[in-house]
Amino acid sequence: MSERTLVLVKPDGVERGLVGEVIGRIERKGLKLVALELRQVEQQLAEQHYAEHDGKPFFGSLLEFITSGPVVAAVVEGPRAISAFRQLAGGTDPVDKAAPGSIRGDYGLEVQYNLVHGSDSAESAEREIKLWFPEL
Ligand code: CMP
Repeated sequence: MSERTLVLVKPDGVERGLVGEVIGRIERKGLKLVALELRQVEQQLAEQHYAEHDGKPFFGSLLEFITSGPVVAAVVEGPRAISAFRQLAGGTDPVDKAAPGSIRGDYGLEVQYNLVHGSDSAESAEREIKLWFPEL
């Protein structure tokens, strides 16, 4: 069954010139791009996107980081797209959790600067796609 997931290349990934690398991996895996946009994230969108982390010690710096420069936002579609992209991304912590060969495992060192975001469930994907691409 085909699903959709929201993917972000975060400001660190854009700044480091890894957009092509991330999009290339998505395409080579066989997933399809349904929407793709470079955008500066407003504070309100950042707060809504990361609402589940409100109250955590890193919430403030997470918002500051995600609004610090442009991100690339994409809607990606394919069979089991949510898990497929999470596997491409690797675990949240680029050193302790992300395997070599994954995006974070290959290019990341710090949990905050972990390059990409992918929706973590069907419910999150639906909520995040509505938030970032209401026109879809
Ligand atoms: P992401 O998949 O975008 O979802 C929440 C983000 O919070 C996560 O990636 C990390 O970038 C960030 N994050 C999670 N845990 C920590 C932490 N302990 N310190 C700083 N940032 C974190």
